Parts: sequence; C-alpha cells; structure tokens
Amino acid sequence: MAAPLPASVDDTLKLLTEGRYVADRSLATALYLSLSLHRPLFLEGEAGVGKTEIGKVLAETLGRRLIRLQCYEGLDVSSAVYEWNYSAQMIEIRMAEAMGDRDRSMLQDDIFTERFLIKRPILQALEPDLTGKPPVLLIDELDRPGEPFEAFLLEVLSDYQVTVPEIGTVKAAAPPIVVITSNRTREIHDAIKRRCFYYWVDYPDAKRELEILKLKSPGAAEELSRQVVAFVQRLRSKDLFKLPGVAETIDWTNALVQLDKIDLDPDTVNTTLGVLLKYQDDIARVRGSEAAAILQQVKADLAAAR
Ligand SMILES: Nc1ncnc2c1ncn2[C@@H]1O[C@H](COP(=O)(O)OP(=O)(O)OP(=O)(O)O)[C@@H](O)[C@H]1O
Ligand SMILES: [Mg+2]
Repeated sequence: MAAPLPASVDDTLKLLTEGRYVADRSLATALYLSLSLHRPLFLEGEAGVGKTEIGKVLAETLGRRLIRLQCYEGLDVSSAVYEWNYSAQMIEIRMAEAMGDRDRSMLQDDIFTERFLIKRPILQALEPDLTGKPPVLLIDELDRPGEPFEAFLLEVLSDYQVTVPEIGTVKAAAPPIVVITSNRTREIHDAIKRRCFYYWVDYPDAKRELEILKLKSPGAAEELSRQVVAFVQRLRSKDLFKLPGVAETIDWTNALVQLDKIDLDPDTVNTTLGVLLKYQDDIARVRGSEAAAILQQVKADLAAAR
C-alpha cells in the first residue's frame, strides 16, 4: 500500500532506516526537500557508495512502483520511452491483406494504437498508476548515454510529458518521484542539474560504515566488522586506481564470515583482496607488506580505542 510522503527531515531519516539504509541528516534533508517540493534528486558519487539503493529503498518504503531506467552508452528514445511493436504490426497487416477487407487508412489508424506500443520506463512512469500514487522513476547512471539523451530528458523533467506523434501527448497527472544517479565519469549538463536537488553521496565515515555492516552482514563478529571497516577506511586514503565502495566492504565481510573468520590476519587479507579491490595493479600494490602494515595500524588503533 502506498505510504504518505514524509512530513519532516526526521520522518525521512526514519523512512530510510525502515528501508535498512543508513543515512546522515544531510542526505535525509536533500531527500525530504526533493519529495516535498516535487523536484528530482540528483545523486552523484563514486561506485558502490549506495546511490542506486536510495531509489530502491524509497520505492519500497513508500509503497510505490519502482520504474528503473538503466542507462548505457547509446541509449536512445526507443529503449527509454517507447517503440512500436513492428512484428505485431506486420502480422496485423498481413492478416488484413489476407482477409482483403480493410482500406489503407483504416489499417494505419489501427496499427498505430496503444495495442502496438511497447512502453519503456519513461512512458510507464508518466502513465496513471493503478494505485493512484505516482511511481519512483530511477534513472540510473545518467553519465553513460550521450548529450542528446540528456537534452531529451530535460524536456521530460520540465513538463513530465512526452509526445508520441501517432497517438498524442502523455502527461503525468502527478509527477513521479525521480531519482537520478551518476558515477561522474563525465559532467551532466547544468540544465539538468538546475532542475534537480543535488547531493554528493560520499564514502561513509567509520561509524556509519559499521552501522551499515550491522544491517547488511549481521552474521559477522563485532571485532571482525570493526577491523574490516578500519582496514577499508585506511585503504581509501591510499592512491589506488579504484577505491573500495560500501558494496565491497559488505562483500568482503560476507566472504570472511563464509571463511569462518572472526579476526583479520595478513594471510587472510592477502588471499581475499580480490573481493575488495577489482584491479590487478591495486591488488599487487596492496598485497604483502602494505596489507600487513595497514592491518598492524588497524589493530593498534582499535586496541588504543578500547
Ligand atoms: N548507507 C547505506 N546503508 C545501507 N546499505 C548501503 C548503504 N550504502 C551502500 N549500501 C549497500 O551497498 C551496496 C551498493 O550500493 P549501490 O548499488 O546503491 O551503490 P551505487 O552507488 O549505486 O554503486 P554503482 O555506482 O556501482 O552503481 C548495496 O548492497 C547497498 O545495500
Ligand atoms: Mg548504482
């Protein structure tokens, strides 16, 4: 069932917690404003920091349909908005020809109707929803397709409508909740950003990352989770090609639990680095003496904090 929109920043924080998302006040504020003022939320950040998850959690906790448009290089209107079902149209034409009972203009009117329209995510998000509540439209990784797609999106975000020439204009009765994410492999056009509220999703600090692990890797021993978090946090200050995100922290913890570890040791770190780092150059750099040094610091820090 659709839930009402949160009435305050505190409510928004509560909503995220319900969805097992650990957020700080600044994210909850951006989200609250975007929901209450009906503006898209533009989330930018490194890979694996929890951007996509925000859209998913929002749909789940608000009881809205999640419509996800996964962007990729070369994404075009026919994959994002609509396309005609050519093969079904062709069959219709053949059947009409075989029966020989229809004139050309009637046939044309017939095959360009909703029955032959394949609705892609953007069109779906603008249509009336059966629940009566607008869905969550997650436009994921907008930095991947090119500028023409951004220009098109700009139009959609301005009026929440699209035009299908053969049918007419589809306009949302109430605008969907829009969450846009970008990994910032290139800058998104200012005109898009201007229509949105912007939020940079950063790596969490140690306290927040530990909270995330408690939720997402509940089977891990407390001491192991602390060591993992401290290790990852230190690793993020190194000059690596690709720093580990929260996703990798969770994966690594789950891998260590699977190996029945309750305490990190240099050997285990070395043999499981591939769960944490995804580039051979990074692994080669960290494996061995660097990993041992970080682990030593981690254990000394945790002992001092006790
Ligand atoms: N603050 C958080 N609270 C709870 N879980 C989190 C949080 N941040 C990240 N996660 C978890 O980390 C994983 C990765 O998150 P997500 O896929 O949203 O990252 P992303 O920023 O979209 O990454 P990418 O850029 O690679 O798509 C998910 O399993 C998510 O549940
Ligand atoms: Mg993502």
